[in-house]
Amino acid sequence: MNKNNIKDYSRKISERMWNLPDKGELESHREETFMDDIIQKSHIERTLLENLEGIDTVFDAGAGCGRFSILLAKQGCHVTHFDISQPMIDKAKELAERAGVMDRITFVKGALEDLSEYPNRSFDMVISFDAPISYTYPNQEHVIGELVRIAKKRMIISVTSRLGSLPLLANPIQKNQFLLNEHSEDPFVQWCVSNRQNAIDTFHFNKSNIEQLMADGVMGGEYEIAEYEKGGAPWCITYAFMPNELEGLLRSFGMKNIKMAGPGAYARTIPHEILVKIMNDSKQRSDFLDVCYKFDSNPYVCGMGKDNLLAKGDL
Ligand SMILES: C[S@@+](CC[C@H](N)C(=O)[O-])C[C@H]1O[C@@H](n2cnc3c(N)ncnc32)[C@H](O)[C@@H]1O
Repeated sequence: MNKNNIKDYSRKISERMWNLPDKGELESHREETFMDDIIQKSHIERTLLENLEGIDTVFDAGAGCGRFSILLAKQGCHVTHFDISQPMIDKAKELAERAGVMDRITFVKGALEDLSEYPNRSFDMVISFDAPISYTYPNQEHVIGELVRIAKKRMIISVTSRLGSLPLLANPIQKNQFLLNEHSEDPFVQWCVSNRQNAIDTFHFNKSNIEQLMADGVMGGEYEIAEYEKGGAPWCITYAFMPNELEGLLRSFGMKNIKMAGPGAYARTIPHEILVKIMNDSKQRSDFLDVCYKFDSNPYVCGMGKDNLLAKGDL
């Protein structure tokens, strides 16, 4: 399968998967059930709030159900909430309405692969969190270039991390480490709990899969395409970046003062029982999130963040 064929599949698979009827609803509850999501969201929120000086207009690329577009609108920014999926946009509208910020958000349905309608330097800040850029494989470099082009002052993004994802291939129960409440009714939580033993029993360390991801950074492809052809909505074809690769790309497109971070690196070292203890005590939780933010912002740990790699820089 050559990259030109994947080009179209990648967008179509993303669209179909994110269009699943309950996807927006599930996404909007993630922080109630998974501690790694709480930590990542907290890291991104802190980064955003520390970088708002002089920012009025924001483009949120792959904005989902509005976790960050709504936060920024609440801060007074005028946000363009851009996403490929109408159900995600509809959920975001519902949440924006509830937050009383509809007048500061413009919702646009579109694919990141085509941002030609936006002139150069259209937005003070461009953001894209939790990997939308990685889902545009094999166009991820073009998309980053276009996002930099429409940014005037700053860009902050998080993409799938290659070094962060490689250990997951040797750990089929990695999500269990981060379950906050094993009794939650969330179907994904239930699946993690009920499938735990089976995942261990059937696990087989596959060196060639790991070496393949290490070499080309591509997750999925042939399998996802076959599932899509059968009418399914498989996980998106995903490109996982190396930290130095992402930094080099951003620099080549003209970004300055680039800072990299690996949200989740600190938490990754802590066993489930201890994480649950910390997160269920409000003082410990708040102290812990402070420490995670500081530790995970150190560029030397960014490869060992969890599945996302974060980068920010100025234009
Ligand atoms: C994991 S969600 C992240 C949502 C949001 N940024 C957040 O952090 O809450 C990924 C989002 O990217 C969107 N997406 C995926 N591929 C896209 C594409 N090619 N163009 C625009 N949006 C895309 C999906 O519809 C989904 O809402």
